[in-house]
Amino acid sequence: MALAARTLALWADAYALGACDSPRRVGERLWRINSARGEVAVKQFDAAANDAALHEALLLQRLAAPTDARYRVPTLLRTAAGEAVLTGPWGVVLLTRWEAGEFKHYDQFTAPDWAALGRALAALHLRLENLALPALVTLRATLRALDFAAEQQTIETDRAHLACGAGIDRLRLHRYLDERLRLLEQCMHTCLENFPDDDPQWPIHNDYNQYNYLFAAAAPPLILDWEAAIGAPREFEVVRCLNHLPLERPAMARMFLSAYLRERPLRAARLPWAVDTACLMHALKHWVLRGWLAGRSGSAVALQGAMQIVPMLAARREQLAEFFVRAVEAGGG
Ligand SMILES: Nc1ncnc2c1ncn2[C@@H]1O[C@H](COP(=O)(O)OP(=O)(O)OP(=O)(O)O)[C@@H](O)[C@H]1O
Ligand SMILES: [Mg+2]
Repeated sequence: MALAARTLALWADAYALGACDSPRRVGERLWRINSARGEVAVKQFDAAANDAALHEALLLQRLAAPTDARYRVPTLLRTAAGEAVLTGPWGVVLLTRWEAGEFKHYDQFTAPDWAALGRALAALHLRLENLALPALVTLRATLRALDFAAEQQTIETDRAHLACGAGIDRLRLHRYLDERLRLLEQCMHTCLENFPDDDPQWPIHNDYNQYNYLFAAAAPPLILDWEAAIGAPREFEVVRCLNHLPLERPAMARMFLSAYLRERPLRAARLPWAVDTACLMHALKHWVLRGWLAGRSGSAVALQGAMQIVPMLAARREQLAEFFVRAVEAGGG
């Protein structure tokens, strides 16, 4: 779908972009525009996602100054009137300066890449301490609002639709759903019972993964896409972003953790809780199978990934928790 010339003209005017080339679509909601102000990335949110757009803008602003050599984030562009986002009939847009960089799949990351990502995350966590964002959802509130029976039912409803999809081994799909139910049962209550109630739940990125990093020739990586931020304990983000890496490539996970721990501490006693909570998030990830059933592009790759990771976590959750506790007690080494 092309961008309407009228919409582009309104954006260009509001941001004083000057003359613009035709925008290139680089993602479902992402446009790359060459303007007289340089290349810009335009992220388009629907009106209902206004809070997410605002959070992304406020976080980029907070992280921009003072500069920190341990991480990079995109530079937010403001409208000529000084607004952080622009609202109109197109929903909400957020503009950043376009940055050069390379996407890498996580299994292509080198040891220095993992170390750079760990160091960057710790520095980001430090910088986001004491930041209160308006209407930011917290992890504790999200967990409290969960309805165990409704989540189980959703998984069973999706199971009933399995006959509709083609091209993936059905037995593996059933096993994947069984394992998600198992994780749901095992982790739902421990996540709340063991929640670190003394944590201030300052913002975390909450989508710190390969799709939101851009690597340049020199470290540190650029960390994109802050719209999913929530307030949560840092241990949760560390476990969540490493995912099954400690089981697959423990040396790389240790690189990440030692680099993180050189910048700020983690509490070893919270790690088993964080593993349970990260596992619960896999149990609740309904969109992966639903996207595949709806034939969405890229969904088969996402589903294959989930079918590999979920059984591994379900079978080796305790081993994963042990890894984190030991690594943190040993300072990541
Ligand atoms: N400022 C930027 N400079 C360079 N590339 C960018 C910039 N902003 C976004 N991109 C590119 O656009 C992609 C999508 O951006 P972003 O992750 O913010 O949006 P998204 O809609 O959440 O996408 P996804 O669903 O793929 O995560 C990024 O992965 C990156 O490749
Ligand atoms: Mg993204």
